Amino acid sequence: MKAQQILSKMTLDEKIYHLVQMTTMTYLKADGTDIVTGPSSTMQLDKEYIYDVGTLLNLVGAQTMIDAQTNFLNHSKRKIPPIFMQDVIHGHRTLYPINLGVAASFDRQLAHDVAKMAAKEASLDGVSVAFAPMVDLVRDPRWGRVMESSGEDPYLNSEMAAATVKGFQGDMGKYNVAACVKHFAAYGGAEAGRDYNTVDMSERTLREYYLPSYKAAVDAGVKMLMTAFNIVDGVPCSGNKWLVNDVLRGEWGFDGVVISDYSAFEEMRNHGYCADRKECAYRAMEASADIEMMSPCYAHHLKELVEEGKITVEQIDKAVLRVLKLKEELGVFDNPYRSVDVEEAKRVQVGPEHRAIARYAAEQSAVLLKNDGILPLSKDIKSVAVIGPNADTGAIHGSWFCGGKIEETITVLEGVKNIVGDRAFYAKGCNIEYDSTDESMIDEAVELASKVDAVILCLGEHQDYSGEGNCRTNIEIPAVQYKLLDKILEVNKNTAVALFTGRPLAIWELDKKAPAILNMWMPGTEGGNACANLIFGNAVPSGKITMTFPRVLGQVPIYYNAYRTGRPKLEEDDFNRVRFTSSYLDMPNSPLYPFGYGLSYTEFEYSDFKLSQDTMNRGDTLVASVKVKNVGKYKAKEIVQLYIHDVVGSAVRPMKELKGFHKIELDVGEEKTVEFKITEEMLKYWNKEIKFVAESGKFEVFIGKDSTCKPYASFELI
Ligand code: GLC
Repeated sequence: MKAQQILSKMTLDEKIYHLVQMTTMTYLKADGTDIVTGPSSTMQLDKEYIYDVGTLLNLVGAQTMIDAQTNFLNHSKRKIPPIFMQDVIHGHRTLYPINLGVAASFDRQLAHDVAKMAAKEASLDGVSVAFAPMVDLVRDPRWGRVMESSGEDPYLNSEMAAATVKGFQGDMGKYNVAACVKHFAAYGGAEAGRDYNTVDMSERTLREYYLPSYKAAVDAGVKMLMTAFNIVDGVPCSGNKWLVNDVLRGEWGFDGVVISDYSAFEEMRNHGYCADRKECAYRAMEASADIEMMSPCYAHHLKELVEEGKITVEQIDKAVLRVLKLKEELGVFDNPYRSVDVEEAKRVQVGPEHRAIARYAAEQSAVLLKNDGILPLSKDIKSVAVIGPNADTGAIHGSWFCGGKIEETITVLEGVKNIVGDRAFYAKGCNIEYDSTDESMIDEAVELASKVDAVILCLGEHQDYSGEGNCRTNIEIPAVQYKLLDKILEVNKNTAVALFTGRPLAIWELDKKAPAILNMWMPGTEGGNACANLIFGNAVPSGKITMTFPRVLGQVPIYYNAYRTGRPKLEEDDFNRVRFTSSYLDMPNSPLYPFGYGLSYTEFEYSDFKLSQDTMNRGDTLVASVKVKNVGKYKAKEIVQLYIHDVVGSAVRPMKELKGFHKIELDVGEEKTVEFKITEEMLKYWNKEIKFVAESGKFEVFIGKDSTCKPYASFELI
């Protein structure tokens, strides 16, 4: 095996540098001058071994990869080709919706297909590893990175994680890339929704809610995993031996590559877990973390740790071998340039075929939050105004835009013009800045709104208000946007809001005022076309939210799969004050929009709920079924959801948990029977003794269109 042969020829210094990750830009100049000026200058790496670095991150295009790889190999003694890694989070050059949007499609095949498309574009640029999927469970919309997650449910997160890994990796062929599941673990649990903040939870909560999606990626064969910035139970993930070595590698059997997040090794000093970079290197290697991204702890200290007998060469060999095996599987020992192809990349990237995939994904991800009947608009409409700060901007393609370009993104105005041509008119109305108070453009917009048949009002966030390091303490839309809305509604009631956001927003006021709200998330390169197709009925909204929308920020954290408490407030009392219950004196407990919620242009009727048995012996499979009928006027898709409630447990159990979903398409008048299998495995959870078991007792069964559905049957697990 080549990897073993190569390892056997490497010196200790070469092995150590193989575990360092640098930026691609360091190697762009044939004469090596970048090394002095690039990030390596801040890392004080030994120039003797700078061409023994094992992996590179942040690539910009096929030619860049060719130049960097050529320069690297020309200077390298050992000539072990580096592999290139990139944040291909929701697309490489053709961007699809942010992952919180793709998850709202509840479509495993879609999650697979968009990742497959991204992998092809990335591999043509010479990328070998995508730093995705991000599978962190989230409950706090103040956190900027909810946009790249799949939401608040462990089961849905797991399904999306597995589908995305398989989309990226396929059969690890020419147009596939290795996936890297992140951020291990529980990065989404940052207190106060503040990035990089403390994560503190019980092992039971960690295993019950946060770990399943990483394990789903591991079980799907993910090649790499990234450790998170945060602590778990007081220990930073990158140096957390229990988490990485014992759980990930010991319990789950993961023998792939573990890479740190950006400088997370040396940040263990900031956490106050390590005294210096030497201890960071020791803790990380003890945890069996392999690659150090953009910090020099391994490079500076691993050798002396070996000389002091604290770290063994065998430990280093294991890490290096994992990296070399990944390279062998990627084929870079036979062809260091792998699938890079400058001309093919130009032909394929952001081409019609990929744009079509991105457009379809944006249509399937959108969620109709409200519609008093004004949508869809007629394509024969005499005149329509596209108004608002997000009406004519490409800054709706999402915050992890990788190689995507704003100028390649279809704006809503362009999309509407593609349908109604010169019957579309535009006014900005106000600015997008969350702190803007400029009302000077409102009158012009209102003037326009008063003259047209309908208004599409594009509101919400800028794409830069979500994503890494973009957390917010205010998740309402700005007052100036409400002022614009109010003034427009005074002159034209036929107004639909297209909402662009990277997170759930606390938009109770918008829900009260707007006749219709179509949540487009950040929809990607084809966002404008998808939005117009949905507004004019060329496509019918079918998405359902996977992260709860609060009425107000004060309700956060708020999520559907919560525990009941000893003093639950009854749903029928939601708007009544019941003091000595788990409730507020000034606000209902219910969210604005619950997990699994989303409307259609048609109506679906659920009937004939059945459950095959009212007892389950160990090993039995029950069948829960329902009939769903399209009783409206549009052919459309419906996401039928199965929830189960374990009524009594040795540890308290959520009031309901998503355990299955089917996305079906029904013609007008068509009816289908939807069936779900219920197995003992689905009933298991991490009990008080931290054992993964299904405990005997009563289980309630729910089937419905969102998480507010009521139980229709129950069974006894013997
Ligand atoms: C960032 C992110 C991580 C990303 C990495 C490389 O800080 O936390 O998700 O993959 O650095 O860009």
